[in-house]
Amino acid sequence: MDKLLIEGGAPLHGEVRISGAKNAALPLLAATLLTPGTHILHNVPDLRDTRTMLRVIETLGARWERQGATVRINTDTLSGAEAPYDLVKTMRASVLVLGPLLARAGFARVSLPGGCAIGARPIDYHLKGFERLGVEAHLAQGYVEARVPGRLQGGSMYFDAPSVTGTENLLMAAVCAQGQTLIQNAAREPEVGNLIDMLVNMGAQIEGKDTDTLVIRGVERLSAAETSVIPDRIETGTYMIAVAACGGKVLLRDCVPQHLVALSEKLRICGLVIEEEQDCMQVSCPEVGDRSLCALQSVDITTQPYPGFPTDLQAQFMALMTMGEDTAIIHETIFENRFMHVAELNRMGADITIEGSRAIVRGGGRDSISGAPVMATDLRASASLVIAGLAAQGCTEISRIYHLERGYENMAAKLQELGARIHRISE
Ligand code: UD1
Repeated sequence: MDKLLIEGGAPLHGEVRISGAKNAALPLLAATLLTPGTHILHNVPDLRDTRTMLRVIETLGARWERQGATVRINTDTLSGAEAPYDLVKTMRASVLVLGPLLARAGFARVSLPGGCAIGARPIDYHLKGFERLGVEAHLAQGYVEARVPGRLQGGSMYFDAPSVTGTENLLMAAVCAQGQTLIQNAAREPEVGNLIDMLVNMGAQIEGKDTDTLVIRGVERLSAAETSVIPDRIETGTYMIAVAACGGKVLLRDCVPQHLVALSEKLRICGLVIEEEQDCMQVSCPEVGDRSLCALQSVDITTQPYPGFPTDLQAQFMALMTMGEDTAIIHETIFENRFMHVAELNRMGADITIEGSRAIVRGGGRDSISGAPVMATDLRASASLVIAGLAAQGCTEISRIYHLERGYENMAAKLQELGARIHRISE
C-alpha cells in the first residue's frame, strides 16, 4: 500500500489550479442515466470516486471515454438496473443512481451502503422522498429494491435535515414525474445547484435553485446535454488552510471564492490575508520580524449545512487549530463520529479532547506539532493529517492514502509544485 512521506516546515509559494468538485461530478455522472444520448461533462476530476461512479454507470450500460477533464458518456441503452454491493461498499454516493433509474427504467436495485467511518449515514430520507413520488421500495438481501407502478407522480417532501444526496436523488426522480414536485428544506449546497443547471440544460423545469424550496414541473422528455463541473470548494478550502498552517503566499486559480465565505471569515480572524477575485483567490500568511510566521488566533467553528461551515473542512480546520495560541471549540453537528482524526493528531503532539459532538482543541502554538507515523481513516481526516504533516517539525509518514485519492486530484504533486517536501512511496 502506498504512503505519503512529508518533511514538514516548508512554506507554500506559487499557484495551484483547483480541480472540478468530486461531490458535483458524482450526481452529474449519475444524471446521464436519465435519458438516452451522448452527454458531455467538462472539468470532471480524475479521482478514485469518479472512477467508481463511471464503473457503476458502465455496469448499467453506459459507455464512456475521457479526454483530459472532458468525459463523453453515451447512455443510449441501459443493460441493467442494479448497483452491486462491491461498488456501493467503496462509495456510498453510488446510491445516486436510484433516482435516474427510477425515472428512466421504473425499477432499481441498489445495494445499501452500510455503515461507514463517519457515522451511520442512513438513506431513509431518499426512500421517503421516492415514496412521495409513488415508488414502492423494500429491502431484500441487503439491497433496496424500488419499483414505480406506472409513471412517477409529483409529490411533496420535507427533509428533516437538508440532505445533499437526498435532494439530488429526489430531483433526478422528479424531473420526469407527472405533475409538480415540491421539496422543502432542500440542501442549498453549490453541488446541488450544479446538478440543477445540468437538469435544466437537459430540458427539466426547476425553480428555486440556491434556495431551500425547490419546485419541479415534470416534463415528458429530456435530452442529452453539455455541462461543466463546478470547482471543488473543499479542495480550495484545504489548500487555504494549508497556507495558514505552513505560511507562504499561494494563488488558487479556477475556484469560486463565494462558495467559501464561512471558511474565509474564520481564516481571516486566524490571521490569514485573503484577496478574492471572481474565479481566483490569493491567500498569504503575514510574517513577523525575522521571517517567522504570525501567531495563529484560535477560533471556534460549528459545522452547518451550506452556507455554514462545511463538515468536509472540519478535520482540516482542526489540524490548524492545534497550532493556535489558545483554545478552539469545534462543534460537529452534521455527522456523529466524525472525529477519527483526533487520535492521530494527538499522536503528533496535539492536545484535543472530545466531549460528545464537540472537540476541545488546546492550541500549543506554531511549534507544537511534530512528525509521526499516522494512519488515514477517511477522506477528510487524511487531508487533516497532510496539513499537520506539512506544518510539523520533522517527518510524517501517512499510510492508507487511498482515502485521500478518493477526493483530491494529484494532491502530492500539487503540493510539491508549491514547495512542500512531500513524496509518495510504494511499499
Ligand atoms: C454529502 C457529501 C459529503 C458531505 C455531506 C454533508 C456527496 C457525495 N457527499 O453527503 O461529502 O460531508 O453531504 O455536507 O455529496 N441523513 C439522514 N438520512 C438520510 C440522509 C441523510 O439521516 O437519508 C442525515 C445524515 O446522517 C447527516 C445529514 O442528514 O446527519 C446530512 O447528510 P447528507 O447531506 O445526506 O450527506 P450526504 O449527502 O451523504
